[in-house]
Amino acid sequence: DKDEDLKPRPPVVTIMGHVDHGKTSLLDAIRLSNVTDGEAGGITQHIGAYHVQTQRGEIVFLDTPGHEAFTTMRMRGAQVTDIVILVVAADDGVMDQTREAISHSKAAGVPIVVAVNKMDKEGANPDNVKRELAELGLSPEDWGGDTIFAHVSAKAKTGLDELLEMVLLQAEVLELKANPDKPARGHIVEARLDKGRGPVGTILISEGTINQGDSFVSGVHFGKVRAMFNDQGKKLKTAGPAMPVEIQGFDGLPEAGDELFVVEEEKMARRIAQSRAMKKREKILSSKSKVTLESFLA
Ligand code: GTP
Ligand code: NA
Ligand code: MG
Repeated sequence: DKDEDLKPRPPVVTIMGHVDHGKTSLLDAIRLSNVTDGEAGGITQHIGAYHVQTQRGEIVFLDTPGHEAFTTMRMRGAQVTDIVILVVAADDGVMDQTREAISHSKAAGVPIVVAVNKMDKEGANPDNVKRELAELGLSPEDWGGDTIFAHVSAKAKTGLDELLEMVLLQAEVLELKANPDKPARGHIVEARLDKGRGPVGTILISEGTINQGDSFVSGVHFGKVRAMFNDQGKKLKTAGPAMPVEIQGFDGLPEAGDELFVVEEEKMARRIAQSRAMKKREKILSSKSKVTLESFLA
């Protein structure tokens, strides 16, 4: 609806790249140098998504360990990533999973910012990386193309600010907006069963604002927001667009990639979830009986 009151929201960034090219190290380095509340080195909960306040603006990072999560979410229609940071080790160059990451990003229509990592290493050869990526259609800006490259070292912590600046520049072009003033809608980024707290899910709000006490549906599950935390383990009462939060109060374990939406009443949430669960069971049963019949006839 075009008359909606859209407000700017931070970009959601997924870091991709070949095994051991430094995705996790890079995210760690970015987070450590951008912890604002003086709790650097303190206990930070892993919630699979991180909100980083840089000097120039906010960025939300999704810590998806592989391309699998990215692809699974996309297959489910959950396009939550705005920008991909493609990490390529300067001494290693383009590898299989680099190519995979490029094709996944292209298929999803998500712009790529290249981070040439491990610049501190003896064998670093960023020009080689540029050449290889140019051959794959990612031509660097300084060669007349339109792909942004940043030279970084997660180990030496160099080039990080430039990288973040490039990401925010790219985000500006995308003019990312969302309406915070409506019932929340979002996606499950990660879910797990906590020994003490039961099923917990990390969600990323795509529009609206979620509040403590809100009733919601996600897949065949429903619940009521019992407690909500940010990636610093801080308890929150509300969370708006692009804010990753971990919530408690699911009736069962939700699935990564599933949508979550807030409804007015818990009764309604239960009813929707139950009818979805019933449909799912019927589907499974009918597919099972079909297999049995086919194998019987074979
Ligand atoms: P997977 O998640 O297993 O695919 O790996 P990753 O891409 O997350 O790489 P990770 O951050 O685990 O780093 C792999 C190795 O490279 C580790 O031994 C890091 O210490 C090292 N490494 C990462 N970044 C740098 C860097 O900038 N310079 C150097 N010299 N080593 C780095
Ligand atoms: Na690794
Ligand atoms: Mg990693």
